This record gives sequence, C-alpha cells and structure tokens, in this order.
Amino acid sequence: SGMANSSWTFSDVRNVILSAHKNTGAQDKVGFYDTWAENYEQDVALLDYRAPLLAAECVSSFFRGDREKAAVLDVACGTGLVSAHLKKMGFRHFVGIDGSLKMLELAKKTGLYQQLTQCLLGQDEVPVKSETHDIVIIVGALSVGHVPLTVIRELWDATKPGGYVCMTTRGNPDNREYKAELEQMIRALEEEQKWSRVTVVEVEEWEKAVSEQDSGYIPGAIYLYQKGFKCSP
Ligand SMILES: C[S@@+](CC[C@H](N)C(=O)[O-])C[C@H]1O[C@@H](n2cnc3c(N)ncnc32)[C@H](O)[C@@H]1O
Repeated sequence: SGMANSSWTFSDVRNVILSAHKNTGAQDKVGFYDTWAENYEQDVALLDYRAPLLAAECVSSFFRGDREKAAVLDVACGTGLVSAHLKKMGFRHFVGIDGSLKMLELAKKTGLYQQLTQCLLGQDEVPVKSETHDIVIIVGALSVGHVPLTVIRELWDATKPGGYVCMTTRGNPDNREYKAELEQMIRALEEEQKWSRVTVVEVEEWEKAVSEQDSGYIPGAIYLYQKGFKCSP
C-alpha cells in the first residue's frame, strides 16, 4: 500500500482526486472507490479534507437528544471518518451504508458500526426502515457523478420525526450545477413541510483545490435539516 511510500506527494493525490471528481456513472464511481480504498485516508489527509469533521461538529452543536441512545445512519460512510468524529462527540450507535465493498471492509475494521450494508444509492433502495434514525448524515458523496438527488427523499424517509438530516456538497465550478439542484430539492421538501432548516453553512476552505480552474481551497457547504414542520412564532 501507499502507506509506506514517503514519496507520494500532493501532485499524485491531485490526480487521484481528479478521477474521484470525474462525472462517471454511479457504478464506475464505486469501482473507483474500490481501487482507492487502501489509500483513501492518507490521500484525503493530504488534501486537507475537512468535511467529516465540520459536518460532525455541525450535527453535534445542534443535537438536543440523548447522544448515547441516538441512532446514526452514516450514508456513503466510506472508511468511517464521519462516525469516528461523531463517536468522539459522544454518539454511540452507527449503521453504515456504502456502494464500495472495499471501503466497507475498512469501515468494518474500525469497529465503529453495529451494521454495514452495501448499497448502490440511486439504484438500490436505502436498506433501512422508515423513521428509524435520529441522525442521517451523508458527507462527501452528494456531488456530480456520485449520488443522484432522488436519494434525498429516501434519507428523509429513514429519519425519525424530529430527527436530523445532514448533507454536504462541494461548491467549485464542476459541481455548481449539482449544488444548485441539491438546493432546489432541499427547498422542495421544505415547501412540502417535510423538514425545516436548522442551519446552512458555506465553508470557504473545504478542501485543497486540485483542478486547473481552481486554486488554494475550494468551497463547500453543510445543510442541516430537522424532520417535521415548525410554525413560525
Ligand atoms: C469521498 S468518499 C466519502 C466517504 C466518507 N463519508 C468521508 O467523508 O470520508 C465517497 C463515498 O461515497 C461512496 N459512493 C459514491 N457514489 C455512491 C453511490 N452511488 N452509492 C453508494 N455509495 C457511493 C463511495 O464508495 C465512497 O465511499
């Protein structure tokens, strides 16, 4: 593995990330993650990928229930970075789903998850019952070529009334159209009174830029919604 390879540099990672962002189909994407799994964590560290921490902090700062009892659904869990952060913040019960078996194998090794299931989001139904989770979180997977937006309603469905849905996306040019469509979808559910906005955080320094058209850091955003509708006072 690349772990022992000290000459692995940012420019190597850059090429990997560029393939990760390529707009291929969901099946290809998951195949790509199978090949990346072993190096994923060290590579995203080089990229200064802060999304898992920022999203976990966002949920943690608004969650009012009993953390030790809360059921967390970590969607597109990858190797487990999001649940690892939530665990440090007092959460205990994690279920993970992802399309990549290799990523799931690594997630299993963390010992964080009560259950891990392979699921190709957008194609297979999300494998959980309606209204069973206090927190549903999807980080680093809502972007062009990854997870289709139809999944948002399934995530809403998996959430208990009063529970939270936390979503993130990138704000750089190649993902701009997807981000706008995501925001439209979120607004549609708000208009249907299915959830209400808790907070939306636009982050300037989301992760290091890798493409020709970007430099420094690319922006990203966190969307936190609570299932149910609150009348304004
Ligand atoms: C950038 S990683 C994010 C992993 C983890 N949430 C994190 O923040 O470190 C994206 C993950 O989404 C998964 N993924 C991408 N498209 C998917 C799809 N259509 N269905 C299921 N999983 C998918 C990949 O296998 C990969 O593990």
